[in-house]
Amino acid sequence: MNFKGFNYKNNNLFCEHVSLEDISFEFGTPIYVYSGASIEDAYSQLSSSIADTNTEINFALKANSTLGILSLLSKLGAGADIVSGGELVKALHAKINPQKIVFSGVGKTTEEIKLAIKNGIKQINAESYSEIENIISIANELNTKVPVAIRVNPNISVKTHEKIATGSNDTKFGMPIEETANIYKRLSSEKNIKTMGLAIHIGSQIFDMNEFKLAYLNILSVADSLRQEGFKVPNLDLGGGLGVDYKIAKINFFDYGKTISDVFKGYDYSLSIEPGRSLVANSGILLTKVIYLKKTKSKNFIVVDGAMNDFIRPTLYNAHHNVEPVNLSKGGLEKFDIVGPICETGDYFAKDALLSNTTEGQLLAIFSTGAYGSVMSSMYNSRVPANEILVYNGKVHKLKEQERIEDQISKEILPKF
Ligand code: LLP
Repeated sequence: MNFKGFNYKNNNLFCEHVSLEDISFEFGTPIYVYSGASIEDAYSQLSSSIADTNTEINFALKANSTLGILSLLSKLGAGADIVSGGELVKALHAKINPQKIVFSGVGKTTEEIKLAIKNGIKQINAESYSEIENIISIANELNTKVPVAIRVNPNISVKTHEKIATGSNDTKFGMPIEETANIYKRLSSEKNIKTMGLAIHIGSQIFDMNEFKLAYLNILSVADSLRQEGFKVPNLDLGGGLGVDYKIAKINFFDYGKTISDVFKGYDYSLSIEPGRSLVANSGILLTKVIYLKKTKSKNFIVVDGAMNDFIRPTLYNAHHNVEPVNLSKGGLEKFDIVGPICETGDYFAKDALLSNTTEGQLLAIFSTGAYGSVMSSMYNSRVPANEILVYNGKVHKLKEQERIEDQISKEILPKF
């Protein structure tokens, strides 16, 4: 295991210089703990891998939209890939330059499109005829030039979980590639539209560089033929998707960057990418405490105080995340299912995990939960989502006030019967 930012010292797990045990005393559990050094490291590895290309990094907020994390990424120079008005507001709040914000997504509402235009974002990636007509009529109504790119669906199937593959024609994403050129030409003739280029995103948790390459070659060929016909195609947005090997914390930034530079060397397109997972997954752990050990004839369970409402990836995608004790001790290994208190069999973090000397009250760290962790949390079972803190530059930064059940109750309305 090699997680930058998380290390054992004298058998106790630390996030940078801070002991996770101390964090649990001060802030309670369950809690997300992020390492700023880990985010910096991922950002710098990704930047170096594409250094010989003209590529902007637009962090996909959907992976983690906690303001403290966004403002760190903004400080590092990242732009943003957003998919809702809410994400736009958060990106702006974290001082991300609007000229580095790209708006993706199949269902942008008129209000969201107007908000994006008003804030002068870099481009809107349009995904359907109806959306394009809507953007044109908004642009005319506001009499403003609106920057638009077309998201292309290249009809490529990728080897990933079916729920996060987005590049084939039977998914809701993008415009069929054979129709892209015509729609681009139509957009180019609109006086209030500035055509920005093409975009693509074939899915998430992708490891096979040939899948990226194929997608890139696909938009390159549409872009080239549009240019040959005299249309302006300044930017190609290559989407996100780089996979994280959750068992060994490995991310192949090098080959990813090389794939981009191999495909685009010699071309003068300006490029952008939309990484989410690869920048933040390994930067976070979910710290949780063992409430009960429950041993039955058929299974051993560790019941912890975190649950699927805090972190749903194992439940939703059968995802593997390493779970390790915060305090290491020697002893025979035993197999456990690590489960939360929620009343569903699917509420688990690990199955058949091997742990030694597990005791009630002990702390466990669920690794690589920095991406698609807190953003996907809920109040299910009327539980309040885990709090979040960031260790950065020698300091512990509390990122949120702990939500309380009273906060939820105060927003609900008791009808008078
Ligand atoms: N750009 C677009 C248009 C996207 O839809 C996505 C992710 C990204 C960029 C970022 O992809 P990444 O670099 O993170 O792979 N909740 C799922 C992942 C959903 C990804 C959705 N789209 C999970 O926990 O695995």
